[in-house]
Amino acid sequence: MATISYEELERRHLVGVIEMCRNEGWDSYLSDSERTFRALSAPGVVTLVATASGAVCGFAQVLTDGEIRAYLTNVTVAVDLRRQGVGRRLIEEAFARAGVRYLDLLSDPGAEAMYTSFPGYRRMQGFRIYPSSPPR
Ligand SMILES: CC(C)(COP(=O)(O)OP(=O)(O)OC[C@H]1O[C@@H](n2cnc3c(N)ncnc32)[C@H](O)[C@@H]1OP(=O)(O)O)[C@@H](O)C(=O)NCCC(=O)NCCS
Repeated sequence: MATISYEELERRHLVGVIEMCRNEGWDSYLSDSERTFRALSAPGVVTLVATASGAVCGFAQVLTDGEIRAYLTNVTVAVDLRRQGVGRRLIEEAFARAGVRYLDLLSDPGAEAMYTSFPGYRRMQGFRIYPSSPPR
């Protein structure tokens, strides 16, 4: 397996991160790369990037209050590197850097096995809501 490095997001990662969002169909992150960079590097955001030979092969984004609770908002790993521990390491490192007691998340059905693999997880009900008028 290639050596994987884990580091906080820098501007040089942006093209690779956006390409990963494109592969996942996360359209909100595609139309304006500067907006995406601001979202991924805003205060209270930890975005951890995995690279192999300098190329982005995964990332995780966490929104944190810095003390008690954080939200895992995105995690993805390149298809050819899945099931090798990269996703778990991204989450664990971002969790540690967030400095909180616990991490909440909304799960896509396909990712359920990932989250139920964490010891002591709790299953909770969640909703995602949208503004009444379309965002700008
Ligand atoms: C979910 C995702 C990030 C997991 O990344 P990964 O690097 O493959 O995960 P890991 O190798 O660290 O897996 C850790 C553990 O989670 C579980 N797991 C992960 N993917 C699984 C799968 N497809 N089926 C069953 N168990 C799985 C296993 O217990 C695994 O440990 P093991 O390989 O020792 O059995 C990756 O599949 C992905 O990018 N999916 C598409 C994007 C996505 O759905 N993101 C989450 C949105 S909520």
